[in-house]
Amino acid sequence: MFPTVSLTAFLLLAVSVAANPIVVRKPSVSLSFARHLNVTGAHDLVQKDQARAKNLVSVSKAKQSGTLSSSAVVSVGVTNVGVVYVASVGVGSPPTSYSLLIDTGSSNTWVGAGKAYVHTSTTVQTTDRVSVTYGSGSFSGTEFRDTVTVGTGLVIPGQSIGVASTSTGFAGFDGILGIGPVDLTLGTLSPDTNTLIPTVTDNLFSQGTITSDLVSVSFEPTTTTSVKNGELTFGGTDSTKFTGTLTFIPGTGTFPASEFWGINESIRYGASTSILSTTAGIVDTGTTLILIATDAFNRYKTATGGVPDAATGLLKITSTQFNNLQSLFFTTGGRAFELTANAQIWPRALNTFIGGTSGSIYLVVNDIGSPTGSGLDFINGYTFLERFYSVFDTTNNRVGFATTAFTTATTN
Ligand SMILES: *[C@@H]1O[C@H](CO)[C@@H](O)[C@H](O)[C@H]1NC(C)=O
Ligand SMILES: *[C@@H]1O[C@H](CO)[C@@H](O)[C@H](O)[C@H]1NC(C)=O
Repeated sequence: MFPTVSLTAFLLLAVSVAANPIVVRKPSVSLSFARHLNVTGAHDLVQKDQARAKNLVSVSKAKQSGTLSSSAVVSVGVTNVGVVYVASVGVGSPPTSYSLLIDTGSSNTWVGAGKAYVHTSTTVQTTDRVSVTYGSGSFSGTEFRDTVTVGTGLVIPGQSIGVASTSTGFAGFDGILGIGPVDLTLGTLSPDTNTLIPTVTDNLFSQGTITSDLVSVSFEPTTTTSVKNGELTFGGTDSTKFTGTLTFIPGTGTFPASEFWGINESIRYGASTSILSTTAGIVDTGTTLILIATDAFNRYKTATGGVPDAATGLLKITSTQFNNLQSLFFTTGGRAFELTANAQIWPRALNTFIGGTSGSIYLVVNDIGSPTGSGLDFINGYTFLERFYSVFDTTNNRVGFATTAFTTATTN
């Protein structure tokens, strides 16, 4: 059940290091992870995604205007999502392994929601409390420093991690591996309110373990509820996971998208129907669907003929409409990324898990819940990311996309 680590590159390098006194940095290390579907009722999926989107915006705004409460509770975004990607991460020496949600929309790494934190000789308790509120969950507890092991071989001494004394919304998991921008950790500690907590990626880089401060994500579409089909690569990209060239998109300057992995993008349906003019939004592994501003969603609804479905909260189309469904083009960084008709629908084999009926066809593009102009007008969640390889590059403040073997797959 737990993902394992593919460390082939690391092991090969380790052999050459042994015979060589020069410190050789690993260009990158990969961690594979699993996807699980766990939606509990009708509308669950859409509600969870919309709650997350709303929370991302409101907390950024409160933070900017200084109205965030002095109790240092900072909301950054994810949890209790219907579909999650989970990696196994070790903490302590010897390591205890925890099942953590992978989240590019938040940046605190913490354990203790499920399995209790095990103190070992590497455990150092700090004097800080830590608290984060997410879209539909939260945790608070104490900040520790400990050795974190990614998989079986990649060791990060002195990683600052939260240990929950209370948490809500994390049934079935132990915590979060937060790989968003480090600024999202600001205000999560108290009394050290102004202290940033370097992420796992930041520490791998500053400790010289990886040569670039970036992390790459490979997802694949699936038609089963639990599958190990994801891969995180710290410090580089895995060329076996994408096709063609990577296109890098500069981080947007538009607030609040700029607080996250934010980019500018426009969306077009078919040859010429504009859905969303160029605007700022984010790329987020913690959001399941592709959410777009309400006015854009209405244009998409008209273009596709989709009808809101009460049971799932998704747009439903007939098989005739599906046969006529045009591609949706996401233009960013000077390149159009094409989401085919098949990529715009929820995997039919999983319809009943989201409250739908087998045989129906549901669209994965939905309403973000606010009109264009909010500064966060779209979220490319992992129904998008399952079709494109993505790179989150801290050093250069940019996001990369490439096509994959699954971009045009007809899995759904
Ligand atoms: C699914 O979620 C429910 C609550 O939302 C939780 O009780 C349950 O443990 C979860 N199951 C899995 C397999 O994660
Ligand atoms: C993103 O769009 C905003 C608003 O249109 C614009 O001011 C900004 O220059 C753009 N930023 C980038 C990096 O493209």
